[in-house]
This record gives sequence, structure tokens and C-alpha cells, in this order.
Amino acid sequence: MEIVRTAADTKARLRPLQREGIRVGLVPTMGALHDGHLSLVRQMAPDVEVVVASIFVNPMQFGPKEDLAKYPRDLEGDAKKLASAGCHVVYAPDVADVYPPGFQTAVDVADVTQGLCGASRPGHFRGVTTVVMKLFVVVRPDVAIFGEKDFQQLTVLRRMAKDLALDVEIRGGPLVRDPDGLAMSSRNAYLSVEDRARALTLSKGLGAARDAYGRGERDGPRLIAIARAALESVAITPEYLELRSYSDLVPLDRADGPCVILVAARVGTTRLLDNVILSRP
Ligand code: PAJ
Repeated sequence: MEIVRTAADTKARLRPLQREGIRVGLVPTMGALHDGHLSLVRQMAPDVEVVVASIFVNPMQFGPKEDLAKYPRDLEGDAKKLASAGCHVVYAPDVADVYPPGFQTAVDVADVTQGLCGASRPGHFRGVTTVVMKLFVVVRPDVAIFGEKDFQQLTVLRRMAKDLALDVEIRGGPLVRDPDGLAMSSRNAYLSVEDRARALTLSKGLGAARDAYGRGERDGPRLIAIARAALESVAITPEYLELRSYSDLVPLDRADGPCVILVAARVGTTRLLDNVILSRP
């Protein structure tokens, strides 16, 4: 596996292969890799000849009061994990390579970025779409994969690819959990032992709502109340806890079609996300 530090070197490495018709898959990440990230690499590996992973803690998607400075970084450890998961090339640029002096261009997706995480993180998705668009231009992947863990992000990126007629297939990978149910996240490292135990109520609450859905419950407020009760039992007030349509994240009162329940909550000082897909298109 090769580690490449600049856009120019990444293009120089990939274009000759791509001219030969070799298919390239991209797994964008911010590093501090866990099994959730690595599952995306493993899913990509059988379908393309070259798997590229990017590692870049993207300043543009962090708000001024967010955890950019303390975000965990471990390039050496990440590289070992990626190599054993089947990655061939790691693109790990520095900030100046992605945002050269004077940078002033952005990609904006309108409606699906507005609620949910968009409400409390203004500018976040603009940072995500801009950096992912740039990664697409540098790597020119045939396929790119994103985790369903960040369901709104996946929806936004699907919208961007469709709207801009990008020649890249966007795939979603299933949410990977720890054995106790907690959705894997690089930010779980911030949790105290006590808060980690409280954080389990996110997946427990969503699991209870999914079970009720399985027994035939379709009333949105009732499904949400089931999940909310688990959070309230440990005094967690979610930032949002909502039933939304699967494809365009429209708020729903009933779970009749393809839909998903999404939650964000601060546990201690750590902001966590989770979701459960009740039905797919
Ligand atoms: P990051 O949080 O590092 O996540 C990289 C990819 O791994 C994303 O597609 C995310 O959804 C996926 N992922 C994270 N935890 C997961 C889990 N438990 N199960 C399945 N997939 C999981 O998301 C980002 O980085 C950035 O916003 C990025 C897309 C790289 C743009 O900067």
C-alpha cells in the first residue's frame, strides 16, 4: 500500500491505470479508523481493482467551537489497518493541498442539508460536499462508499452526485456497532466510562422503536416516544429524534413507506449520532 500526500501525486499515480480501464473505488475518511470505516474498505475491495482511502480532517466541515483541534489523529496506525483491510492507495493530504491559499469555491446542496444535523451545525454539510467533490475530482473514482451511520451525509452526497450528473456511483455501507450496540464513531474515544453506558440508550431506544415497527406500529409520534423514553431514563435530551423519509429526509407522521429514525444527542460533551432504517425503498 502506498501513502500519497498531494493531489498532484494522486492524479499521477491513478490516471495511467484509469486510462487502461482499471476501476477505482474511493473510501473518504477523517482517520482515527475503526471497524466501521474498515467495513467500507472491505465492501469496496471485491468490486474494483484499486481501492483508494482518503484521510483528511477537513477544517471546512467543523464549526468554530467544534473539536477540530482535538480530533484524534493516527496516520501510522490508520495505514496499517487500511493495508490489512485491502486498501491500495491512501491519499492523506495536508490542509494547504486541499485548500490552497485564496481558496474560495464551494458546493452547496439546499434542502436536505437544512434540518437534523444541519440545524445545529451551520456550514457543516457545505464543508462535506465541497471536500468530497474535490476528492472526486482528484481521485475520479468509479464508485465511492459512505456509511449509513451518517445517514444525512449519505443522502446529501447522493443528491449532489445526482444533481451534478457525476460519473461516480454512490454506495451506502451498513452502520457498524460495538458488541453492546453503540454505533462506532471516532468520537466515542471522548466518552467517560459512565457516559459510554448512558450512550447505549441511543441504540437501545432505536432498537425498541424498530421492534415496535416490526410488531406493526406505524404511528410516528408513538415510535418516537418509545425511543425517547430510553433516552429520558438516563436524562439525555436529544438534539433531534425524528422519523424521516428514506430518500429525501422529509419529516413523516407515519412510517408507511421507506423511512428512518434519526437521533443526535450530546452525552457529556460528546455529540453522538445514531439511526435505524425501518424500511428501504
Ligand atoms: P468519518 O467520520 O471519518 O467517516 C468516514 C466514513 O465512515 C463515512 O462515510 C462514515 O459514515 C463512515 N462511518 C463512520 N462510522 C461508521 C460506522 N459505525 N458504521 C459504518 N460507517 C461508518 O464522514 C466523514 O468522515 C467525513 O464527513 C467525510 C465524508 C470523510 C468528508 O470529510
